[in-house]
Amino acid sequence: MTSGDPVLRLCGVEQRFGLRTALSGIDLTVHPGERVALLGASGAGKSTLLSVLGGSLPPTGGTVEILGMPLAGLRAAGLRAAQRRIGTVGQRLDLVEQVRVLHNVNVGRLGRWNTARALTALALSRTDPTVEAALEAVGLGWAVHERTERLSGGERQRVAIARLLVQEPDLVLADEPVSSLDPSRAAEVLDLLRTATPDGTLVVSLHQPDLARRHCTRVVGLRGGQVVLDLPVAEVDDRHLADLYTAA
Ligand SMILES: Nc1ncnc2c1ncn2[C@@H]1O[C@H](COP(=O)(O)OP(=O)(O)OP(=O)(O)O)[C@@H](O)[C@H]1O
Ligand SMILES: [Mg+2]
Repeated sequence: MTSGDPVLRLCGVEQRFGLRTALSGIDLTVHPGERVALLGASGAGKSTLLSVLGGSLPPTGGTVEILGMPLAGLRAAGLRAAQRRIGTVGQRLDLVEQVRVLHNVNVGRLGRWNTARALTALALSRTDPTVEAALEAVGLGWAVHERTERLSGGERQRVAIARLLVQEPDLVLADEPVSSLDPSRAAEVLDLLRTATPDGTLVVSLHQPDLARRHCTRVVGLRGGQVVLDLPVAEVDDRHLADLYTAA
C-alpha cells in the first residue's frame, strides 16, 4: 500500500443474519486522514458495518479490502496481520480487571511480541517508556501500577485508549466510544482517538451528530442497512439528520 491508497474499500457488501438483512449494497471507500462518523438510528447497521470493516465478520456478499489487502484472499495469519494494524474500541472495553493497568496497556503490543516476551512482561510487572507515555497521554500517568478494577468507568475507558496508542495502528474503528461519557470527556476521547494513528484515520459510530460535526471530516449515514448519506461534514444539515433518524 502506498500513502494515498484507500485504507478501506467495500464494494456491494451485504450482511445477512438468517432471514434478516443487516447491510446491503454498501459501497464505501475511506482514505488516510479521513475521520468518518457513522450515524443512524438504533438497528441501522453501524456495529455490523464496523465488524465487517475490522475483518471480524466476513460479509455474506460483496468484497472488502483492508489496507490494500482483499480480505477474501487472506489466510488466518494474513488476517491477523491486517487486524494488528487496526485498532478497535467498543463499548465493551475488554480489560482484564484483576491485573495492573500496565498489563492491560501492554495487550496493545501483544500482536508484535512473541510469547516469551509477553510472559516476561507479565511476570516482571516492569513498565517502560512506551507504556508510560501512552498513560501520560490519556492523563493516567499515576495509574501505571494500579489494579485496573480500582479505576472509575471513565478511567478504564482511558486505559483502553492507552492500549490502542501503544498498538500504533494505521486505522481506528470505534463503536460508540463516547456514549457513556460527559461532553468534555467525550471531546477529549475523540481527540485522543485521532492521535492514535499517523494520519488520524478514524471510523467512529456516534449517537451525537454534534460530536460528528466537531470531530469528523465526513458523515456516512445508515438507514435500514444501507448508506443513505455520504457527505463532507460541512455539507450535512439538519434536514439530512432528521431524515436519518425518522422511521423508514
Ligand atoms: N449477530 C446477529 N444476529 C442476528 N441479527 C443481528 C446480529 N447482529 C446484528 N443483527 C441485526 O442487524 C441489524 C443491525 O444491527 P446493528 O447492531 O449493526 O445496529 P446499530 O446501528 O449498531 O444499532 P445501535 O445504535 O442500537 O447500536 C439489527 O436489526 C440487528 O438486530
Ligand atoms: Mg451498535
